[in-house]
Amino acid sequence: PKLAGLRICCIGAGYVGGPTMAMMALKCPEVVITIVDISVSRIAAWNSDVLPIYEPGLDKVVKACRGKNLFFSTEVDQGIRDADIIFVAVNTPTKKVGMGAGRAADLTYWELAARRIASVAETPKVVVEKSTVPINTAEAISAVLHGAGKTRFDVLSNPEFLAEGTAMTDLDNPDRVLIGGNMNESGKAAVAKLADVYAHWVPRERILTTNVWSSELSKLVANSFLAQRVSSINAVSAICEASGADVDEVARAVGMDSRIGSKFLKASVGFGGSCFQKDILNLVYLCQSMGLADVAEYFHSVVMMNDRQKERFVSRMIHGLFNTVTGKRIALLGFAFKKDTGDTRESASIEICRRLIEERASVCIYDPKVEADQIWMDLTAATKLDKTEVQKYVTLCDSAYEAASGAHALAIATEWDEFKTLDYGKIQEDMVKPSFVFDGRNVLDHDALRELGYIVYAIGKPL
Ligand code: NAD
Ligand code: UGA
Repeated sequence: PKLAGLRICCIGAGYVGGPTMAMMALKCPEVVITIVDISVSRIAAWNSDVLPIYEPGLDKVVKACRGKNLFFSTEVDQGIRDADIIFVAVNTPTKKVGMGAGRAADLTYWELAARRIASVAETPKVVVEKSTVPINTAEAISAVLHGAGKTRFDVLSNPEFLAEGTAMTDLDNPDRVLIGGNMNESGKAAVAKLADVYAHWVPRERILTTNVWSSELSKLVANSFLAQRVSSINAVSAICEASGADVDEVARAVGMDSRIGSKFLKASVGFGGSCFQKDILNLVYLCQSMGLADVAEYFHSVVMMNDRQKERFVSRMIHGLFNTVTGKRIALLGFAFKKDTGDTRESASIEICRRLIEERASVCIYDPKVEADQIWMDLTAATKLDKTEVQKYVTLCDSAYEAASGAHALAIATEWDEFKTLDYGKIQEDMVKPSFVFDGRNVLDHDALRELGYIVYAIGKPL
């Protein structure tokens, strides 16, 4: 086979590095893939029975390939030295301090990885940008590699479009694979080499090649468009609540226009996840640095609308509960930023919870997948209180039933399937009356709940 003998290394064993390389290993059994990371605990978890991330279908693929052609290691230098193609899938969070703080991408981890590659690589390498980065990063990385290294490097941009919760099916059957490269001879050869890997399972017509800048920009634009749809429908939900229109009916009617499309029009408590906000702010910062203040403002409004949506949800809860939640028990169902993941990064639940703590409510949280330690870490960081302070207001529960017992209200923050099939009659027996439901995901049967006697508030729906 064409790829026999090819060796791939991926730096960064996170939500992207783990699943993408596992899928590649499954589809290209003749390629040896090593995923390296500086985090000893993360690598140990990848090598254990309990993987460090929860993603439907991931376990099976990792277990099928691990030890055969898929390896997890902390030997970063060895991984780099042995590889022909090196993916870099390290985190690129929003900068916390310094120039561009709160908006620009922090490329510290990326540059450290690039400098590591430069210092240990002895033979020519194709270096692939898998992380989401600002435009021009490939050029900057290329300068670092060539300035500090002793061999030839071709830098490609190959952004990842998987969504958490559906990562394995997205990787198995992607809408497209995007590869950006230089147009010189070695650039073209590098693009062809990477395209051959993907062509093992992705139809050639779905493998797009562009210049590096277009590829880098397309990733930021794709996430900004997706987030913009959510903010648009959430803005509409505010109009619906003030007018008697129903946001799901509006989304259906609007989405059936084939030019608009029906996906990604689900009104919610606000989008979360590690990337939407980060990538939009990154684009905003790029626009500002290019002197495009109006373009920056346009995209920035998507994030502002999202912040308002979270605040609107909490305000409705306070107003509904007779203008105070102080001392009232509230069952918060769902802490992950969407269903089928244990990831809580930028989850709307964190902000909802922070606000409820500020209001001195008693919050009982249940999520089927998120670890307790993660919740405490998120809430101490968001409230700037220590854990014992937070614990005065927050209790973690092992089931939705336990969280709801003695509660004034249930708030659905994540659309986990199991919340749809709870016995709401039984739940209500143990709740304070009148019992409230605030459905932040519009996943419950509101008529049935009202029949049971609940007062139901839903996003973008008449009372
Ligand atoms: P993550 O935090 O889960 O994983 C990043 C890993 O890189 C960590 O395990 C960290 O220890 C490791 N790392 C950091 N610096 C390193 C270094 N110098 N050497 C070796 N390892 C190092 O992040 P993620 O969610 O996988 O995201 C990675 C990138 O992919 C980001 O740029 C993100 O924007 C992008 N992305 C993420 C998703 C997603 O769904 N999470 C989807 C598409 C794109
Ligand atoms: C998103 C993109 O969908 C991926 O293509 C991209 O690769 C990824 O970001 C990334 O770059 O990290 P992800 O954040 O994992 O993926 O999940 P999404 O399904 O996009 O959901 C993001 C947030 O929007 C979630 O909080 C979700 O609940 C919310 N959402 C989504 C809505 O509120 N309504 C919708 O209609 C869709």
